Amino acid sequence: MPHFVWSSEYELGISVIDSQHKRIIDYINSTYDVIDRGANVEEISDILLQLVDYTFSHLAFEEALLEEIGYQDFDGHQLAHRTFSKLIDNLCKRAAKGEDIGAELASFLQNWLITHIMQEDAKYVDAVNTYLAQNGANRGQTWLHRAVTKYFQ
Ligand SMILES: [Fe+2]
Repeated sequence: MPHFVWSSEYELGISVIDSQHKRIIDYINSTYDVIDRGANVEEISDILLQLVDYTFSHLAFEEALLEEIGYQDFDGHQLAHRTFSKLIDNLCKRAAKGEDIGAELASFLQNWLITHIMQEDAKYVDAVNTYLAQNGANRGQTWLHRAVTKYFQ
């Protein structure tokens, strides 16, 4: 399967978020690799679990950040995440029943992620940068550091 190649146009300019998006893409590409080499169902579901788990941690982190900065469209953004999460949950349920949905899940997540970054995430960039400028890099960075530890460990 063709790999998902990161492009600078997907970059928001918020390094902590960009690196999480890139990591999700790494997981998507690992999923394609596992499928391509004809791995068995257990191996595929193993990498899918990692992909979904990391993606959900990222969404939770992003929502915590948007809440912290008092983002005006927090509810709308959270709703977009929840709608997406339900679709992923449904795919995971199908996988648990033994359906071979690895490629479908990875390509759905890939398409969703790019559209979401460029159409929805792009809208919060100014608000995040304003927060960091107004709260001083120190307090902002301290918050980011704590949140990364909380959501990714
Ligand atoms: Fe988002």
